Amino acid sequence: MSTGDNTLTVTDNRTGRSYLIPIEDGAIRASALRQIRTGAGDPGLLSLDPAFTATASCHSAITYIDGDAGILRYRGYPIEELAEHSSFLEVAYLLMNGELPSPEQLTELTDTVTHHTFVHENVKEFVGGFHHDAHPMGILVGTVGALSTFYPEAGNFTDPVNRRLQMARLIAKMPTLAAYAFRHSRGLPYVYPDNDLSYAGNFLSMMWKMSGRYQPDPVLEHALDVLFILHADHEQNCSTNAMRAVGSSRVDPYSAAAAAVAALYGPLHGGANEQVLRMLREIGDVQHIPDYIERVKKGEFRLMGFGHRVYKNYDPRAKVVRRLAENVFRVTGLNPHLEVAMELERIALADDYFIGKKLYPNVDFYTGIIYEAMGFPVEMFTGLFAIGRMPGWLAQWEEGLLDPEQKIARPRQIYTGPDERHYVDISARHHTEHDLVEPPPKPIGGD
Ligand code: CMC
Repeated sequence: MSTGDNTLTVTDNRTGRSYLIPIEDGAIRASALRQIRTGAGDPGLLSLDPAFTATASCHSAITYIDGDAGILRYRGYPIEELAEHSSFLEVAYLLMNGELPSPEQLTELTDTVTHHTFVHENVKEFVGGFHHDAHPMGILVGTVGALSTFYPEAGNFTDPVNRRLQMARLIAKMPTLAAYAFRHSRGLPYVYPDNDLSYAGNFLSMMWKMSGRYQPDPVLEHALDVLFILHADHEQNCSTNAMRAVGSSRVDPYSAAAAAVAALYGPLHGGANEQVLRMLREIGDVQHIPDYIERVKKGEFRLMGFGHRVYKNYDPRAKVVRRLAENVFRVTGLNPHLEVAMELERIALADDYFIGKKLYPNVDFYTGIIYEAMGFPVEMFTGLFAIGRMPGWLAQWEEGLLDPEQKIARPRQIYTGPDERHYVDISARHHTEHDLVEPPPKPIGGD
């Protein structure tokens, strides 16, 4: 029976003592558990949550997700409305400032970002130092982090003007760094930014321009802008958590962003879009789908582009991407993998395994097909995600810095190692077989 009292009563059966713990915004403070002790030498109870499945790490006013209902909003605005009416830089402004910009404010942000698209000439030299087949995400991890050495004043982020300048620089330079990584892998000369083009148009120019002026196809330019909007933020995901956690050490934003890029690289996170395309290529034909699904159900590997920690419904971004795909294919022609993807989705959504576990297509399921149709090689897919996510990372980083509750992120652990023991000289050590045993890794993608 409800008493309307916003507290939790916890009884410690080890001692018989009860504790009243306040509930605020549907959460208790984990630190409230520390008072629960068995005696004087007991440091107090901890909560264990290795993947943060039931732990909020912060308060945030940026992005709202209702995973059961398939809702995503940036600062209150539904993602569908932003994808239809807004532009990427307007959304970047919204994420970082909390409100949609006035025309003057948008012009100012656009001018600042456009002004900072160039990178120092030395950057070309160290991109050139990477092996020809270096993965663009590996190059991005290195180059984003290296920017901190070009802007040593970036560590002074308590000055809001300086902080905002670094944030604009990061948004501005991401497409340049990503395009340089691509051009390097092809042995092509780097293309300087064209500041007469839009944010997305300039990126396409730096990717594809050969000689003369490059004029992007307006449908593809707009599609890319929408894809950047869809990726711009997603509350406390793995890479954003990395940005916030590393940022909580008060390192400069370039170094924190390099950590976020590294987290995004992983195949369970931003790297999934690349894995989806590899999977579709491996399946090859609709007739191979039932076999493939059976192997997923046996636990041999996961269906990439399916499932999400928060969404237990169709990812709202995936719906927008599906619609966007139609516009893109009108320009590029149909992608041969589309048929396999649509049939894979149809079969999976009717299968008890996927229904029971609430596994629906996520944003990465269809983006790869669009990117491929637009001519991007698979290794570039996650870099495109990283360009789009940068404003979200920065907004979350800044929100963390300005949060009076923020301290350095420093989780506790439950120690499971040996008790104290004493050093044994190497000549007297005998290693046993179990030293070498490790658990098998969990399955990821299919190839
Ligand atoms: N294929 C087959 N089974 C799956 C899948 C999948 N894609 N995803 C989850 N499951 C199963 C999983 O085996 C587990 O089964 P059981 O309860 O029997 O052990 C159950 O569903 C719950 O999975 P989980 O790993 O506990 O869920 P999680 O919240 O830790 O993982 C996820 C979320 C996105 C990492 C996972 O769904 C996954 O690996 N998906 C494939 C990779 C992918 O598409 N990632 C992109 C995510 S969206 C963009 C982004 O955030 O970057």
